[in-house]
Order: sequence, then structure tokens, then C-alpha cells
Amino acid sequence: MTTPHSDPLFSLQGKRVLITGAGGSVCSLVAEAMAARGALIAVQDISAEKVEPVRARIEAAGGSAVAISCDISSADAASQMVHQGAQSLGGLDVLINGAGINRRKTIDEVTSEDFDAIVAVNMRAVYFASQAAHAIMKTAGKGAIVNLSSLSARFSFVTISVYAATKAAVSSMTRSCAREWAADGIRVNCIEPSVIKTEFTMPLWGEPHRQRWFDETTPIGRLALPEEMIGAIIFLATDASAYITGQSIVIDGGILSGADWDSYQNE
Ligand SMILES: NC(=O)c1ccc[n+]([C@@H]2O[C@H](COP(=O)([O-])OP(=O)(O)OC[C@H]3O[C@@H](n4cnc5c(N)ncnc54)[C@H](O)[C@@H]3O)[C@@H](O)[C@H]2O)c1
Repeated sequence: MTTPHSDPLFSLQGKRVLITGAGGSVCSLVAEAMAARGALIAVQDISAEKVEPVRARIEAAGGSAVAISCDISSADAASQMVHQGAQSLGGLDVLINGAGINRRKTIDEVTSEDFDAIVAVNMRAVYFASQAAHAIMKTAGKGAIVNLSSLSARFSFVTISVYAATKAAVSSMTRSCAREWAADGIRVNCIEPSVIKTEFTMPLWGEPHRQRWFDETTPIGRLALPEEMIGAIIFLATDASAYITGQSIVIDGGILSGADWDSYQNE
């Protein structure tokens, strides 16, 4: 009988995985979960202070990890970071583009500097890191890229116009890369989560009226937890999804499934 860890469909044993934004709430957990299942991990983040403890926790648990701290907001830096990661791992089987930023402002308040900063991390870094990963993976004839897009790619909220536009771009780039690289054996997919209860989103759920709005409009009745992203990411990174490419998995607690008009009946 196979256990989840030994099931060849979901096997990460020996897979060389580079994760950007791995000092963050979601990707630190993804890195630890993948390492616990046998993957060799390169964890990358702009903040050494955030990413070094992730590397240390993986190693303390008996896993294998290297840490890379750099800013990937320029095309060259994103590309170099991928080459550095692949070099330290001895190759590259999986790239997870998790680094992301947001600056919550109304459209009237957004400056050109805000716009450029968000585009640089959320869009340009994903594009050029993927381009570099493709160059490495195509020589091996296989690979998987998983992008962290967002539900905001298709369902926006106030004050996140630039973020939402970059995430729509990530979902679009996912399809473009999938189409161009399928013949090289490289699959590219993304996840589109709604609001996950993390430090990144504390300004949203930290306000009682917003927390209530999320709980009441999400069919599952609560915000997502960061660990609830792990399963979909492992699925997209492994042979379990061998015939899936160019897809977005929406992880939204049912928000897009529809509304319940009778919930207003007793008000
Ligand atoms: N938290 C949510 O509700 C949510 C929902 C949908 C999608 N996402 C996406 O999931 C991903 C992870 O989100 P999170 O909640 O863990 O956020 P987070 O802020 O905890 O993690 C993001 C990480 O990216 C790093 N980073 C920022 N700029 C960088 C740069 N220039 N170079 C390298 N690293 C950089 C940060 O230091 C941080 O550790 C992001 O792409 C985010 O947009 C998050």
C-alpha cells in the first residue's frame, strides 16, 4: 500500500525545487511541506532575516535546503537568482513563483512609483524567473512551474487595482508560458487564492467589519489558512497533474460558486 509520501503520483522525492518569496507566510510553509516529502529546496526571499530561519527549520527537520536572499524586482536579478538556485540544487525540476507585494490604495491615490514597484515584483520577476527556468528545464526535457496568482485576477476588491492587474497578468502569463513550453515537457500552472489569513492581509481581516464580510460572503464561512495552499501546489508540481498545463486553480472557499439571496431574508 502506498502512503501519501510514497505515492509516485505525488512524489517529490529528490525533486529540486526553487521557491521565491519563501520567507513569507504561504511559501515558507510550502517549502517546509515539500522538504518533508523529500524535495531538495532552494528558498529565496528579499529578506535574509525571513528566509534563513526557513532554511534552518528545514535542515533541523532532516531536510535539505539552501537560502538565497536577493531582490528579484529587476529582470537580470530574477534571472540570476534562478541560475544561482539551479546551480546550488544541481538542476531545477520545479519553480514556484511566490514573491509578491501589495500597496493598498484607491486608484486616485496610486503613484507611478507604487505602480512600478508592484509590477516589478508581481509581474516582471515572475516573467523573467520563468524565462530563466525554462532555459534550464528544457535541456532536461521536463519541469513544472507554479505561480501564485490570486482570485483578484478575476474578482477585484477596492484598493487593490494594481495588484489585481498584476495577478491577472500572472494568470495570463501562466497560459502563454504553458502554450510555448508544452513541447519542451514543461508545465506551467497557477493557483488563484482568495484572501488567506496571513500577515500580508492583516489590514483586511484585522478590521472587524471586513472579517465579518469575508466570513459571511464566503460559502465555507471563513478565510483560507496558509497551509491550505500546500495541497494544490504539490499537486501542480508533481506527476499527479502530468496532463494539466496552463490552468488556474481557484482556492476561494466557494466565492465564485455563487451567492445565496435568501441570506438577506431575516434582515
Ligand atoms: N495572503 C493572501 O491573502 C494571498 C491571496 C492570494 C494570493 N497571494 C499571493 O501569494 C503569495 C504569497 O503571499 P503571502 O501572503 O505569503 O505574502 P508574504 O508577504 O508573507 O510573502 C511574500 C514574500 O515575498 C517577499 N518579497 C517581496 N518583495 C520581494 C522582492 N523584490 N524580491 C524577493 N522577494 C520579495 C517578501 O519578503 C515576503 O517574504 C504572493 O504572491 C501573494 O500575492 C496571497
